[in-house]
Amino acid sequence: MKKIIVANWKMNPYTLRDAKQLLNNIKKGLTKIKFKNIEVIICAPFIWLSDLSNSPSKKIKLGAQNLFWEKQGAYTGEISGLMLRNLKCQYVLIGHSERRTHLNETNKMINKKIMTALSVFLKPILCVGEKRGEDMSQVIRGQLIEGLKGVSRAKAENLIIAYEPVWAIGTGNPCKPEDAMKASLFIRKILSDIYNRKIADKIPIIYGGSTNSKNAKNYITEAEMDGLLPGGASLDASEFIRMIKEVNKNV
Ligand code: PGA
Repeated sequence: MKKIIVANWKMNPYTLRDAKQLLNNIKKGLTKIKFKNIEVIICAPFIWLSDLSNSPSKKIKLGAQNLFWEKQGAYTGEISGLMLRNLKCQYVLIGHSERRTHLNETNKMINKKIMTALSVFLKPILCVGEKRGEDMSQVIRGQLIEGLKGVSRAKAENLIIAYEPVWAIGTGNPCKPEDAMKASLFIRKILSDIYNRKIADKIPIIYGGSTNSKNAKNYITEAEMDGLLPGGASLDASEFIRMIKEVNKNV
């Protein structure tokens, strides 16, 4: 399966100039890499997507960090999937723990977002993961079953699942590769129960939470993850390039 590296810029950087420069530095770094079977996706803030999509790169795909579940209409402050498609976005993060925590996003809301993303041919990257002290399997089961309610077998092949234990995000305290692997096997099992083994095997399961160029290899080789979702490390072009190189070496 293809290895996927998703940069989550979150609410950074705060000027367009810096966003363009970061993208340009990443692009420059990528010219020297001969891509094997990998895909690099940058999920930038909504406000920079239009400008960033004006300088396309064969090696980088664009993604958003959220969307609203309606396609158009009186929803002040919201951004729809159709708008994102018009900006050449191909992916969208859905259900990131920061949105579940700070914006009170529920599995029901996340499910509506997944359905609308798929209906406009955006590929959802559904983030799941437990908080410190919670039972991993119980939390993830609920997030997957409720989040994917009504997603057909045919559409399921367009999903990416990101395992992101909340306690590992932005803490410098990543999940042990063996625990990431345990979670990934569990996610695959739930996906097989919802769909079937053949479809579950086609859905990439990636890991996010304090990843960097030093630990990237462990998740790809030891934990057999299908990719990574760096936040902090993706804001430093050279560090992000080093991560991509590590993944590319170990495809
Ligand atoms: P982090 O963020 O790499 O800074 O821990 C990951 C994420 O929130 O997606």
